[in-house]
Amino acid sequence: MNNDFKDIVFNRRSVRVFDENYKIPRDEMLQIIKETTEAPSSVNLQPWRFVVVESQEGKDKLRPLIEFNISQNDTSSAMIIIFGDMKCYEKTEEIYGRAVEKGLMTEEEKKKMVDLIMPAYTGATRQKMNDIVKIDSSLAAMQMQLVARAHGYETCLIGGFEEDVIAEEFGLDKERYVPVTIVAIGKGNEDASDSVRLEPEEVTRFE
Ligand SMILES: Cc1cc2nc3c(=O)[nH]c(=O)nc-3n(C[C@H](O)[C@H](O)[C@H](O)COP(=O)(O)O)c2cc1C
Repeated sequence: MNNDFKDIVFNRRSVRVFDENYKIPRDEMLQIIKETTEAPSSVNLQPWRFVVVESQEGKDKLRPLIEFNISQNDTSSAMIIIFGDMKCYEKTEEIYGRAVEKGLMTEEEKKKMVDLIMPAYTGATRQKMNDIVKIDSSLAAMQMQLVARAHGYETCLIGGFEEDVIAEEFGLDKERYVPVTIVAIGKGNEDASDSVRLEPEEVTRFE
């Protein structure tokens, strides 16, 4: 494990070629996902859902859907498709129930939260829900990139894919599960090129 915060954050670069012979063990993959889901989310509803595409069959299914990102698909340990669950509110009771069990809130406080969340979420427009689940899931994607580095892996975030068909191709209801991004993950096998950033003054306004 790498515990060097500066190295993890500031030496992260998008890696597009991985060691194709290396597969991340299942228990470590689940640990990476566990650490990823420590990310914050709106009213803690955790709308992210992960499909870990690691088999040859899965990679073959993904290949025609990922445009110019073939090397990531073919060499990574896994392509982790992150979907946002538009019905994430169905887990409100469960999540807040666990908070009560853990002694983090009373039954009464839980009820108050559930009564606030449910009408807001079930009454939200599709556009609003889409924004919520994409913001939350994007935070998870970022966290996953950093968690991966702590485990000694590299990543490339992929936005270039066929977003209209990817859910159905992987057996999910496309109205419910909106694709957010794909995280290619594996042992890096190239020196990723450096990248540039705008200066803080160029992207910031103080008022
Ligand atoms: C939402 C999003 C989508 C991206 N999509 C792709 C992609 O489809 N293919 C790719 O090779 N890189 C993709 N990237 C990686 C960016 O090109 C990369 O982060 C950027 O050029 C900065 O380089 P760095 O990550 O090495 O610092 C994406 C990044 C983000 C945040």
